[in-house]
Amino acid sequence: MQSATTKLRVFSGIQPSGGLHLGNYLGAIRNWVRNQDKYDNIFCIVDLHTITVPQDPAALRENTLDLAAVYLASGIKREQAMFVQSHIPAHAELAWILECFIPMGWLERMTQFKEKSGRERERSSAGLFAYPALMAADILLYDTNYVPVGEDQRQHIELTRDVAQRMNQRFGQLFVLPEPMIQAAGARIMGLDDPQKKMSKSLAADSPGHAIFILDGPDLIRKKLARAQTDAQPEVRIPAGPGVTNLLEIYRTITDKDWPAVEQEFTGKPYSVLKGTVADAVIEALTPIQQRYREIRADDAALMRHLHGAAERLTPIAETTLHRVQQAVGLR
Ligand code: TYM
Repeated sequence: MQSATTKLRVFSGIQPSGGLHLGNYLGAIRNWVRNQDKYDNIFCIVDLHTITVPQDPAALRENTLDLAAVYLASGIKREQAMFVQSHIPAHAELAWILECFIPMGWLERMTQFKEKSGRERERSSAGLFAYPALMAADILLYDTNYVPVGEDQRQHIELTRDVAQRMNQRFGQLFVLPEPMIQAAGARIMGLDDPQKKMSKSLAADSPGHAIFILDGPDLIRKKLARAQTDAQPEVRIPAGPGVTNLLEIYRTITDKDWPAVEQEFTGKPYSVLKGTVADAVIEALTPIQQRYREIRADDAALMRHLHGAAERLTPIAETTLHRVQQAVGLR
């Protein structure tokens, strides 16, 4: 795959933890789809990351197929490399080596770990703590140039660069240094029920109105948006509070309009108009994805073949990097 093209390499991934939401779509998948022809892409379903917190095994298998189907349904072309992380053992092997070169202090500073472990720090898994090392392995195995993600993943990509630089200094040019690719629009979608908090799967579990899921039907989308938190103003005014700003951000991202146009469109309008228009735009974007998703999930055997085929084609690339690293550190 790598030698057949001179395009720069993109790598990104999402956890198959169920409940893929509008933040995942606007912050990540949509941008992958839009830029896919410009790059040599690898899109991963990061199941090893998902088991850093407890999972129901049957649900994990189901969510893995779901995520693959959503990638394709969102417009990722069939010829792109789309695979499941655990199908290529080199990810876990390189992660281990990287862990031996990443100081504990770097991992302790990761905000995602602090947020996810919360007050349960002592009880959270060692895997959750070492999570960024596995993410660094994902990225570095494929000589990745760009990593398209939402804002919340920036710190992990910085850590990836730091460990790559550290090992390059010690052993010579082992790794390509990746750059984050974070779009101005949609990189941080906030919760509908609490616009101070990032839209996230874990918060959605406690509050059904927190997130719009990619597979939510039109009525549910309207209902969730109708209940979204706004301000104490009688109508949309700029500068708006965080709830209204989040709705405007969703709208401008999904419609590709710029801020001045969106502000002009809604200034002076009641919140019901804003919410109804945002709902129309979200439904219009998600409905065709949901239709294609159902068609794709109707043939799981084909989907599995696709995933296994991609893993087979990618394995030699991953192993070349792994062997280079093993050689450098004295493991072969
Ligand atoms: P994950 O599964 O939490 O999220 C997947 C993608 O969605 C983006 N995202 C958001 N964007 C905007 N607003 C939000 N509220 C929002 N919530 C999530 C994330 O930034 C991400 O791009 N560690 C990664 C998965 C991963 C990965 C990798 C990514 C593992 N290995 C290698 C890139 C490269 C994660 O947990 O993403």
